[in-house]
Amino acid sequence: QEGVFTYDPGFVSTAACESAITYIDGNQGVLLHRGYPINQLAENSDFLEVCYLLLNGELPTDAQLEEYKATIKNHSMLHDQMRNFFNGFRRDAHPMAIMCGVVGALSAFYHDQMDITNPKQREITGHRLIAKMPTIAAWCYKYSVGQPFMYPRNDLSYAENFLYMMFGTPCEEYKPNPILAKAMDKIFILHADHEQNASTSTVRLAGSTGANPYACIASGIAALWGPAHGGANEAVLDMLAEIGDESEIERFIEKAKDKNDPFRLMGFGHRVYKNFDPRAKVMRETAHEVLKELGMEDDPQLKIAQRLEQIALEDDYFVERKLYPNVDFYSGIILKAIGIPTSMFTVIFALSRTIGWFSHWNEMNSGANRIGRPRQLYTGHTERDYPKK
Ligand code: SDX
Repeated sequence: QEGVFTYDPGFVSTAACESAITYIDGNQGVLLHRGYPINQLAENSDFLEVCYLLLNGELPTDAQLEEYKATIKNHSMLHDQMRNFFNGFRRDAHPMAIMCGVVGALSAFYHDQMDITNPKQREITGHRLIAKMPTIAAWCYKYSVGQPFMYPRNDLSYAENFLYMMFGTPCEEYKPNPILAKAMDKIFILHADHEQNASTSTVRLAGSTGANPYACIASGIAALWGPAHGGANEAVLDMLAEIGDESEIERFIEKAKDKNDPFRLMGFGHRVYKNFDPRAKVMRETAHEVLKELGMEDDPQLKIAQRLEQIALEDDYFVERKLYPNVDFYSGIILKAIGIPTSMFTVIFALSRTIGWFSHWNEMNSGANRIGRPRQLYTGHTERDYPKK
């Protein structure tokens, strides 16, 4: 039937759930959000328009987008008492630990007034989360560097506001560089949703119990933190620093192939993509644009990354296993060029992915929401009696 995907029965039995939000074809390297290819959205849209699309299923009219952006601005401040949660952390706490705690704490501020079976109340919750995540993320950073929290400004775009709250101070005017703001917005788009990845599956499983949306999003943040998942962008920069010089690349490629060596090529490989991650291609172009804009084309880590990609893509070990660069391989290089510390990379991934997590949570709560219950293959003892004393 035209425009409808069909699956073989074998695949249907393994599927964890049904969803109309995102489609991935890992062999072809295809990623569609409500039918629109990710590269077209990255080139032509902006993050809040993609948020509207993921949540509502259709692109907004100009008037709908304008209204949506105004609504998000109106929810971007945090309840002032939320500052106390930040102060409870040590200054050197990982920003992901702070974000996880603060987002979970939103339940205590907003959830009791909410009926998750009411579509309007779910919609307002989505607005609150999308609007507050940049403020929470930026405040995680400000807290870690001992600078005063900056409040969102309604005259800035979503990405400009995030950069303003990250790098602005009360002491002087801070005007976000439009090229960097556009790159930031593109990074938000490229991380917005990705079907049933580990953190989204975590949010869906938590949501299937009827848990409140803030607690579900906090569970997604916790799952994303792992270096095999969202923590990979931070791990890529650590890896490039460890390699240190192009002359060392071959040695590290051999380490990545050695089963007795825990070293893995971070930013390479994927559970689903056995072809190029379409997001990685856009990310690589954006990295070049940003570094050129900043006069950093000769950035040594970019050079190492480019050479590493080139060698790995020709190496039989990676070719045979269909290991290609994924979304995380270049994103860290862009974030570092913008001036964002590596400890904040996964926080930014979580900020972006909140719309994906919430859209899946909302989709699940719009229908018959049955509790999830993954089955297992039991490999333990058969029944046996307790030994008589
Ligand atoms: C994200 O699911 C999503 O959609 C996630 C994500 C999203 O948007 O939500 O796309 C975001 O998490 C991207 C992935 C970021 N993680 C990394 O870059 C970490 C490095 N990558 C690897 O840890 C690994 O590739 C995974 C975790 C991503 C995938 O692991 P799998 O599915 O276990 O890998 P595989 O089974 O396909 O591996 C096949 C072979 C194995 O070797 P053999 O046993 O066949 O000899 O390839 C090897 C693996 O050991 N391998 C690697 C490798 N990744 C897989 N060898 C060296 N370096 C690597 N990076």
